Amino acid sequence: MRAQLTGTAPAAAPDEPDLGHHGDVEATPGLVDLAVNVRRAPMPDWLADPLVAALGRLSAYPDPAPARAAVAHRHGRPAEEVLLTAGAAEGFVLLARALRDARRPVVVHPQFTEPEAALRAAGHTVERVLLDPAEEFRLDPARVPADADLVMVGNPTNPTSVLHPAETLAALARPGRVLVVDEAFADTTIAPGVDGEPESLAARRDLPGLVVVRSLTKTWGLAGLRVGYLLGDASLLARCAEAQPLWAVSTPALAAATACAAPAAVAAERAIAAELAADREHLVARLAGLPGVRVAGRPASAFVLVHRPSAAALRERLREHGWAVRRGDTFPGLGPDWLRIAVRDPATTDAFSDVLAEILEA
Ligand SMILES: Cc1ncc(COP(=O)(O)O)c(C=O)c1O
Repeated sequence: MRAQLTGTAPAAAPDEPDLGHHGDVEATPGLVDLAVNVRRAPMPDWLADPLVAALGRLSAYPDPAPARAAVAHRHGRPAEEVLLTAGAAEGFVLLARALRDARRPVVVHPQFTEPEAALRAAGHTVERVLLDPAEEFRLDPARVPADADLVMVGNPTNPTSVLHPAETLAALARPGRVLVVDEAFADTTIAPGVDGEPESLAARRDLPGLVVVRSLTKTWGLAGLRVGYLLGDASLLARCAEAQPLWAVSTPALAAATACAAPAAVAAERAIAAELAADREHLVARLAGLPGVRVAGRPASAFVLVHRPSAAALRERLREHGWAVRRGDTFPGLGPDWLRIAVRDPATTDAFSDVLAEILEA
């Protein structure tokens, strides 16, 4: 039997990447943080006001119904196809617990490590499909075993910043399989001539077994609030809800979910994504001029993945100079020659690139 029902993760092999490592531990005080992908900007009033108002209702237990309706409306789905969660991270845990009967769970890497960590913690034995840097981390659906009954993939993917075409992911959906697409960063993506998020499956109700995982913590700087949601088949989400602790999502988090689902918030997200694209182009152009530095693929999100021989040592040198970037070696399929760098405003990028150039030329 593939799945173990002990509820404990199998011990990691000594050369296994540390799936529990996250960029926040690299952004230590005093360093400029290019390690964490959470946007830093003053909170808009339309978000701050309902959050503050929610503090006045803390004596009551949270009621997710209004937020659920608002999120459902945003994505053109009935309310039963939405489950509010304490961040996308809780979504992975609920899915892993609700789907304990999965026989062949497959995770497409490199990607955010929590989906695999959650599966392992729920007793699953996980298989990995490793995308190839030589192919710019493109996904060929034929690489996923036909009898995989649970498949987890990120779009756009952290840390590669690759945005897979919606149709490539849709080709992975089939009866008898749950397809989990982590769209935590979908709101950062944009394409010329496309109104909404270019490759999102969030509104697709025709794909069997599809569950889309969303986060509100990145663009809206709400990592500490813990708010996200699952979108998908009502009966599958009902199973996830059974695995969820009572009142898991707090009243302020629900207020944020409602506010972020409003048309004005969605329009603001599009504007932020457009600005981010320009900032990203600037970062990519600056990195392109540096010796031995190669940006992976065509980055589409709030970070870029960079290859440079001995990047692990370079990361240490950057820390000595006051800059934190995310190590790449804790992502399955990468190694010590990779770094992930957050897209910031052009002035920060320029200051960073100057320091990096100085180190590389020394
Ligand atoms: C790709 C990806 N998915 C999900 C998450 C978790 O997001 P949340 O803060 O909503 O739990 C992260 C956090 O870094 C992430 O990078």
